[in-house]
Amino acid sequence: MDESQRETIVILDFGSQYSQLIARRVREAQVYCELIPWDAPAERVLSLSPRGFILSGGPASVYEPGAPTLPAYVLESKVPVLGICYGMQLLAHALGGRVAPATEREYGLAEVTISDARSPLLSHLPSPLSVWMSHGDRVEALPPGWQVLATSPNSPVAAMGDPARGLYGLQFHPEVVHTPRGKEIIRRFLYDVCGCQGDWTPGSFIEESVAAIRKRVGNDHVLCALSGGVDSAVTATLVHRAVEDQLTCVFVDTGLLRRGEAEQVVETFQRALGMRLVAINAAQEFLGDLAGVTDPEEKRRRIGERFVRVFEREATRLAAQHGEIRFLAQGTLYPDVIESARRQEHGAARTIKTHHNVGGLPEQMRFQLLEPLRMLFKDEVRAVGQLLGLPEEIVWRHPFPGPGLAIRVIGEVTEERLETLRAAAAILLEELRAAGLYRQTAQVFAVLLPVRSVGVMGDGRTYGHVVALRAVTSEDFMTADWARLPYDLLARISNRIVNEVPGVNRVVYDISSKPPATIEWE
Ligand code: XMP
Repeated sequence: MDESQRETIVILDFGSQYSQLIARRVREAQVYCELIPWDAPAERVLSLSPRGFILSGGPASVYEPGAPTLPAYVLESKVPVLGICYGMQLLAHALGGRVAPATEREYGLAEVTISDARSPLLSHLPSPLSVWMSHGDRVEALPPGWQVLATSPNSPVAAMGDPARGLYGLQFHPEVVHTPRGKEIIRRFLYDVCGCQGDWTPGSFIEESVAAIRKRVGNDHVLCALSGGVDSAVTATLVHRAVEDQLTCVFVDTGLLRRGEAEQVVETFQRALGMRLVAINAAQEFLGDLAGVTDPEEKRRRIGERFVRVFEREATRLAAQHGEIRFLAQGTLYPDVIESARRQEHGAARTIKTHHNVGGLPEQMRFQLLEPLRMLFKDEVRAVGQLLGLPEEIVWRHPFPGPGLAIRVIGEVTEERLETLRAAAAILLEELRAAGLYRQTAQVFAVLLPVRSVGVMGDGRTYGHVVALRAVTSEDFMTADWARLPYDLLARISNRIVNEVPGVNRVVYDISSKPPATIEWE
């Protein structure tokens, strides 16, 4: 199937913190969707031939001057529309209903009573139904021809609809996990109201994207930087499927990786998947740059700069060998695309950590970018990776920062301190996997602290290193909670580290959430 025939839902983004979640829920229901700013040009939206619209929530009030409005094409297209929270208020406002501030802000769990059990959206659901509310305004009078589908103690209209036209509004948020039956509501909208069949699957994505890459690349050459992570792995594998030998992968061993990682990349991509892979050991250059540096941002800057230099050098060498390399394949994902569009609109947010530097490649290099994953969420990338036959360790690998262990050795980075950290990290991950908890955590790692502490071993006093363990659960890495790892697992890890890693005599567990802490220590 080609892209133009694919069932597409357009989610218009009115600025809610949950907008991306709506998109994820729609994709999970196997329907392709795009999240587009509410004020994007009509032609851009209509070129997708949407089967339906979802209007997201947002922080504004519809009656405020300058508040985002409902673009005319939404109702003119005559396809179904689901307004969520602000989206519902917009529909009410635009169609002649009345929206007003509620007496008090409704935030948190609420029970709604379903007043019309026949609507395709809410039928078969229990009443009362638990939902998540977060709103200051509410709909007080329906637009003509609409009916109330559900009410809550604080919202006379918790859900409303004009079923004959396929128009619906929900005051609550079906996209969040706190609305347990929310997925079903979204699914009903997609399948029963919009008439979607569910053609968005990992298999159809692979087929389409391989064909698209082949067409775009033609007989040219493609370069892809592998990091060992799932995004670059899936990118390279897709491109390899499409153009085989025209792809060359470059893997830069920064010397800042964990134990066995460089070997695993070579083993997987070169030997198992048969790609042309150039592995460059640049550890000495990176370590040289880091000598005497303790400031985290300075570490990132130097590593980023060195990475670019090594990569450029290699690209030049490869071009001499293969002729011009026109394309650079990168594992950019949809959340980055959405975020950078939002940032451009609202001015750059203050940099907390310069995250996207490493692996970010030189702009002055004249490559055309090939970004086959730019419309995918992480869970979709994993599903695609699995179907492409990538090994479990790559598909489910926790994210690992570009600057690697350099930002986990707090203070100066030396080969000796890196080795200490590698040994501790290997024990941590081995025990975590053995306990079956790797997949249930989002990121788990060890940090080597720049302090020494007194201990006792045998009869002697020790003055050794301290290792901190960090394990978090997270949906999107913007917020995270520390993982409640079982005490006996922590005890085992701590014992093994102190006994097996020379020079370490103390292990601590980080119990900070993000915010206010970040996930990494630097
Ligand atoms: P923080 O520490 O800001 O991290 O809570 C959020 C996520 O980003 C990763 N991270 C980085 N990734 N380069 C990267 O490629 C970096 O400099 C960097 N710093 C943090 C971190 O591991 C977590 O997944």
